Amino acid sequence: MQVTSRYRFAAAHRLDTPSLSAEENRKLYGKCNNPFGHGHDYILDVTVDGSIDPNGLVVNREAFDSLVRSAVLDKLDHKNLNADLTEFGSTVPTTENLAMLVRDYLLAAWNLPAKLVRVRISETERNTFVWEAA
Ligand code: NI
Repeated sequence: MQVTSRYRFAAAHRLDTPSLSAEENRKLYGKCNNPFGHGHDYILDVTVDGSIDPNGLVVNREAFDSLVRSAVLDKLDHKNLNADLTEFGSTVPTTENLAMLVRDYLLAAWNLPAKLVRVRISETERNTFVWEAA
């Protein structure tokens, strides 16, 4: 059975690839290339897969929430992704790359019996980015 928990965090970013010209960056990233950055209220859904234990649970909700909070939310919430995260020193903080980083953060801290199978981040109401375990 799969269980998904939903979390929210706010963060700012600017999308800009240094090897491209200013014009090329504007074309590629549109408004997300604006020089002073902007914020998003991201929605993060984390899905685990496992069997139901004798207590009727796939995952201990408190342990799950606490892991996501310390491994992910504490690192990203109210941060400037470009300036505050060394991981985005030379990597563009697109939501594609953000979803991979969240996956890496979670796997590095993972201590739950259930398996991490999906990370989904919505940047706006219109776009969502999904990593799924193979
Ligand atoms: Ni943006």
